[in-house]
Amino acid sequence: MKLDRLIAKHRFLGRAEAHRQITAGHVRVDGRVIVDNQHEVDRFMQVEMAGELVQQAQRALYLMLHKPAGVVSATRDAEHRTVIDLIDDPDKATLHIAGRLDRASTGLLLLTNDGRWSKRLMDASAKVAKTYLVEVDDDIPLDAIERFAAGMEFQPEGITTLPAQLTLLGPRQARVVLHEGRHHQIKRMFGRLGCLVTSLHRESIGGLSLPSDLAPGMWHPLSAEEKASL
Ligand code: URA
Repeated sequence: MKLDRLIAKHRFLGRAEAHRQITAGHVRVDGRVIVDNQHEVDRFMQVEMAGELVQQAQRALYLMLHKPAGVVSATRDAEHRTVIDLIDDPDKATLHIAGRLDRASTGLLLLTNDGRWSKRLMDASAKVAKTYLVEVDDDIPLDAIERFAAGMEFQPEGITTLPAQLTLLGPRQARVVLHEGRHHQIKRMFGRLGCLVTSLHRESIGGLSLPSDLAPGMWHPLSAEEKASL
């Protein structure tokens, strides 16, 4: 939101008075005087006018969780435990999930209350690589690598998947790199090959890998380096 809009809403000041206050140097964002009416502000910034609080900064949360199997990637569910139930933070109700995993899937899950950050990360056009370790119930056919790379057409979305990289690790085990996150994408792609996915684990998103010492069900706030690696 633009700074003048936020100030205009405060005590119903209106846009003209907001402009006067801002250009007179009475408005501070995170402690810094801002005289630009069009300055972009979000809910994670503290805004004051003439020493009076206009907006209290909300705590921005960026967490990684090692999702265990059997827990749903949702903020609420009538039947099952959710990933939010595993988080112990006073502001956990503000969280949403940046890239879901199916209930049976395990591995790296990101949670945040910063919608702009998660949108940037998950936007298909950003093509952030997500790496999965996959096990299936039958031998993976030899043409799997080409078929994943060529893309597959799916209904009802009417989409063709972006080129995906498949590396065979064994007759029934593979590592797959996707650059998007379509609904049940890996299961559906292996389904086309006649294979049923029996285990699906997300190892990394962008340059961020699940640390080997983060046990299933455990989580931690992203460090500055972890956040940058995304
Ligand atoms: N693809 C799937 O089918 N399931 C997941 O959980 C993630 C990717």
